[in-house]
Amino acid sequence: MRSLEFDQFALTAKNLLETELTTMVEELDGPPILKEAMEYSLQAGGKRIRPLLLFATMDTLGADWKLGVKVAAAIEMIHTYSLIHDDLPSMDDDDLRRGKPTNHKVFGEAIAILAGDALLTQSFRVLSTLDSAIFTDRQKLDIISCLSQSAGAEGMVGGQVADLLGEDKQVSLEELEYIHTHKTGKLLAVCAEAGCILADAKKEIRDLFRSFSHHLGLAFQIRDDILDQIGDEKMIGKPVGSDVSNKKSTYPALLTLTGAEEKLSYHIHAAKATLQKIGGKSLYLDTITELIATRNY
Ligand code: IPE
Ligand code: IPE
Ligand code: MG
Ligand code: MG
Ligand code: MG
Repeated sequence: MRSLEFDQFALTAKNLLETELTTMVEELDGPPILKEAMEYSLQAGGKRIRPLLLFATMDTLGADWKLGVKVAAAIEMIHTYSLIHDDLPSMDDDDLRRGKPTNHKVFGEAIAILAGDALLTQSFRVLSTLDSAIFTDRQKLDIISCLSQSAGAEGMVGGQVADLLGEDKQVSLEELEYIHTHKTGKLLAVCAEAGCILADAKKEIRDLFRSFSHHLGLAFQIRDDILDQIGDEKMIGKPVGSDVSNKKSTYPALLTLTGAEEKLSYHIHAAKATLQKIGGKSLYLDTITELIATRNY
C-alpha cells in the first residue's frame, strides 16, 4: 500500500539522484552540445523506477540506501541512453519521450547517437571511481560485471535486437518472453542485484531477489505494452500506438488485451509471493510492485 513514508522516500531519492546526475554531466570536460544533449534526456523527467528499486532493495536488506546514489545514477544513465537510441528513426522512430520531443528531434541523429554513447561509457567511469572508503574493489567489480552483462549482448542490447527481428511476424510466447526479459527485465533486475551487492546479501537472498526481479521485469514490460494500446499520450509522455505502427511483437498482440492483463497479474502475484519469502522490511518493494502493476505512465 502506498504510504506517506513511501512518498517521502521516493521524493528524497529522486531529488538526490537528479542532483547527482546534473553534477556528473556538469563536471564532464566535453563539448557543450554533447553535455546539453545528455542533460536534456537525463532531466526530461523519467519515473526513476530503476533507482527506486535499487534503493528499496538496499533498505530492505538494512543498508543505508543513500550510499547507492552513484550506482543508481550510473544505471539511470544506461537506461536513458537506451531510450535515446530506442527512439531513433532506425529503431522505433518516435518523436515524443518523457513528454518532450525525442533527443534526435532536438539535437539531430548524430548528436543523439553520440549522447547515448557518452551516457553508456560514462556510466562505467562512475562505477570505477566509486568512493573506496565506502565500497570495496570487489563490490565495484561485481557491479561493473553485472551491469555490463545486463546492458549488453546478453541483456538489453540482445533484447532490443530480438525486438527488431520480431517485427511484423508471429513469435511464440517463449520468444516474446525472451524479448521482454532481455530488453527490459535485465536492466531492472540488475538494480536489485546491485542492491544485494552493496548490502552484502547472502546467496539465498540474492537468488530470491533474482526470482522477484524476473517477474517484476516481465510485468513492467507487459504493462508498457498495454499502455502503448490503451494509455493516454499526455500521461505516458510517449506516443500511443507506436507498437502497432511498427508491427511489434507484444503481449496484447499475441494474447489480446485480456490475455496480457492476465499475464501481468500472474507475474505481479509471483513477485509479491517472492517478496514474502524475502521478508525483512520490504514495504517499499511492495509499493514499487504495486505501482508497476497499476501504473498509467
Ligand atoms: C521505458 O522505461 C522503456 C521500457 C523499458 C519500457 P520507463 O517506463 O522506466 O521510462 P522512464 O524512465 O520512466 O521514462
Ligand atoms: C524499450 O521497449 C526497451 C528499451 C531498452 C528502451 P519499448 O520500445 O517498448 O519502450 P518504449 O515504449 O519506447 O518506452
Ligand atoms: Mg523499442
Ligand atoms: Mg520504443
Ligand atoms: Mg513500449
